[in-house]
Amino acid sequence: MSTDRIHNFNAGPAALPLPVLEEIQESFLNFAGSGMSVTEISHRSKWFDDVINDAVARVKRILKLDNRHHVLFLQGGASMQFCMVPMNLLGAGDSADYVNTGTWSTKAIKEVDLQGKTVNVVASSEDRNFSYIPRPIAFNADAVYAHITSNNTIKGTQWAQFPETGGVPIVSDTSSDIFSRPLEMDKFGLIYAGAQKNMGPAGVCLVIIRDDLLARTPGDIPTMLRYTTYAEKNSMYNTPPCFAIYTVQLVLKWLEETIGGLDKMAELNRRKAGLLYDYMDNSGYYRPTAQKESRSLMNVTFRLPTEDLEKTFVAQALENGMGGLKGHRSVGGCRASIYNPAPLAAVEALVAFMKGFENKHG
Ligand SMILES: Cc1ncc(COP(=O)(O)O)c(C=O)c1O
Repeated sequence: MSTDRIHNFNAGPAALPLPVLEEIQESFLNFAGSGMSVTEISHRSKWFDDVINDAVARVKRILKLDNRHHVLFLQGGASMQFCMVPMNLLGAGDSADYVNTGTWSTKAIKEVDLQGKTVNVVASSEDRNFSYIPRPIAFNADAVYAHITSNNTIKGTQWAQFPETGGVPIVSDTSSDIFSRPLEMDKFGLIYAGAQKNMGPAGVCLVIIRDDLLARTPGDIPTMLRYTTYAEKNSMYNTPPCFAIYTVQLVLKWLEETIGGLDKMAELNRRKAGLLYDYMDNSGYYRPTAQKESRSLMNVTFRLPTEDLEKTFVAQALENGMGGLKGHRSVGGCRASIYNPAPLAAVEALVAFMKGFENKHG
């Protein structure tokens, strides 16, 4: 299976750990001795109960959650959370603080506005094309929550430290760096993440919500848009995305049992990103787009001297078995997404290719 696979640097959906794909392949026709595929079993069966309960238990263990935190699996992607967060957490007269660090934050802010709720954009890095994480930031003491995007997939920036909010719970879009490093969960009232980068296939969104924020959910919003609907039914009020949740369970098992947890994962991620950034800083041929102290360890965005060279770079990389290096269509340039599953060997291969390309074209 592995022989014709490429090094996958896609931004999402993205690479999954090979052992996870192999386990899926192996059990695909006969899941856990059921005589059925995991895509054919009932979500009301003991088999699926075991899957979802194990996935939830692993999320809790990996992030060291206490029993104030609820682990939910929803559909609608991270984009649905842009609307569900204010819909559930902001009542009449309430306001929320948002930090604008790029495309995804901008979209999240828009959804609060659309609902006619009060959003205070307390900081933004738009003045320099979202190339940095703003700080320090003065948050409003009466905000219900402070929303950030922990990793900016398109602009290649990441919060290295989370902001001091004076006790206001942070709500974070962690779609592109969940499980990449330990989180001080005491600071967070809610985190959400579309699965398709660090966690699994597209189709499921993880939401972790604390009791005090869950208690704010109003009873008069549509059932499927209420967090309590999912919390009360173990995410199975209706049919959940079973296959996506199963894959998440396997990725979390890999993270715990093969990698050894978040400290180890973070160390490996620092090493992988360090290889790329160190090489580029020394070369001068490639130019990372994010400011140094705000660089993402997940999405390494960079430019070459010209757009033509960027096109050639992306095309030749693919010919050499490295895919997904084109930057997001809104910003151009190049981007290597090196989420948890991307092995060190993939980054080493990329750096070797970059050196060769620079020697030839530089
Ligand atoms: C940080 C971030 N937030 C939100 C989204 C949107 O996610 P979805 O497509 O699951 O709605 C993305 C997608 O790339 C993302 O990177």
